[in-house]
Amino acid sequence: MKTDPPVPRDAAGCYSIEDLRRLARRRLPRAVFDFYDGGAEDETTLAENRSAYERWRLSPRVLVDVAEASTDCTLLGAPAGMPAAIAPTGAAGFGWRTADLALARAAAQQGIPYTLSSSATTAIETIANEAPGRHWFQAYVLRNQDFFWQLIARARAADYEALVITVDLPVGGKRERDLHNHFSIPFRFSARNLRDFASRPRWALEMLLRGMPVMENLRGLETTATSATGIASSVGRSYDPAFDWARMAEVRGRWPRKLIVKGVSRGDDARRLAAMGADAIVVSNHGGRQLDGAVSSLRALPEVLAATGGRIPVLVDGGIRRGGDIAKALALGAHGVLLGRATLFGAVAAGDAGAQRALHILHDELLRTLRLCGAARVDALGADLLRPCDDGCAWPLPTATAQARPDAVAALPAAAAHA
Ligand SMILES: Cc1cc2nc3c(=O)[nH]c(=O)nc-3n(C[C@H](O)[C@H](O)[C@H](O)COP(=O)(O)O)c2cc1C
Repeated sequence: MKTDPPVPRDAAGCYSIEDLRRLARRRLPRAVFDFYDGGAEDETTLAENRSAYERWRLSPRVLVDVAEASTDCTLLGAPAGMPAAIAPTGAAGFGWRTADLALARAAAQQGIPYTLSSSATTAIETIANEAPGRHWFQAYVLRNQDFFWQLIARARAADYEALVITVDLPVGGKRERDLHNHFSIPFRFSARNLRDFASRPRWALEMLLRGMPVMENLRGLETTATSATGIASSVGRSYDPAFDWARMAEVRGRWPRKLIVKGVSRGDDARRLAAMGADAIVVSNHGGRQLDGAVSSLRALPEVLAATGGRIPVLVDGGIRRGGDIAKALALGAHGVLLGRATLFGAVAAGDAGAQRALHILHDELLRTLRLCGAARVDALGADLLRPCDDGCAWPLPTATAQARPDAVAALPAAAAHA
């Protein structure tokens, strides 16, 4: 059985993702913390992504031998230390200069893929050269098509295993915390945000000495916001709202490796993507940062699973803050999850130590949940373990077909099979 890496010292007092979030809030100016923490408009979807997990309770099996329990699995055709990957999160370097590398290294240590955002503050090649492990590259589709194809060519040359195309952002979401905080990328200084930055002298000194980070992979692309009202869509403005099914088919045709489509909530879209040759789908609403009022991703998962019928892996993200949340997503039929703010909070709170700590916490909680549920392997997590938290407050459980996992570990020990 895999043992966890030693507890990193800087984040050693953190025992939960919420502890890491609090540490990040103490370290960062409010504008930067809110950019990571916040969602669009009334933050309804942000909140529901989280509360959806609370609508399910676990009904544990007993008298199962879980002495050798493990979270090891197969994720998109290759071994993984747990059924998870790091989600793409742009602009992480504004919180901790080397956050992208910290996340990539921590992911490698935990044996899971790392997804680099096209809006990251670290170059595609730097991750490839300086972090071991499985790398996925996430791209938004840009209006500047030459630039977009060059990015993809760079990811291919740097040997990224998969391309993740995010489809839930034809335009930038309206994030009101950013508007109130005068936060934009690139940074524009105002009396308000200067006061805010000065309240975190260690963070401010680091930025003064080393300069504000830039979105390394978008260097040379016209993106500048002209005022604070261009907020959060300063980069979004470069994205192509005309991107459609025909262009997606072109991406499929030109990228020969694994193609993952992120930001799907509907069964009909998922079915069409599977038919088009997508290798996996991520059920996601961008962590509640885009369309407020969008259905929570856990709630959308069964519809997508039913539509794809086990033909391709379906991952889910949004609101995952506990190992037990990962277990519930898997029990509902997800093939795996993407980790967004959960690991981002660790990286921006304490760099390498924080990113490792976040993954250590989630892995430990997932393994503990498996054992306490009488499941020796992640494949043993099924709908039989789930109960609604109260009569009428959860939704119908998925059918067996919807739960079929395409590249699940073939042979399971008898004790671990679905009851
Ligand atoms: C600060 C921040 C930046 C993000 N940047 C990107 C990005 O560049 N590309 C992308 O596809 N998704 C991006 N996302 C969305 C995440 O990939 C993921 O879908 C979301 O964070 C999942 O929700 P969770 O944070 O509640 O886990 C970002 C999310 C956050 C919080």
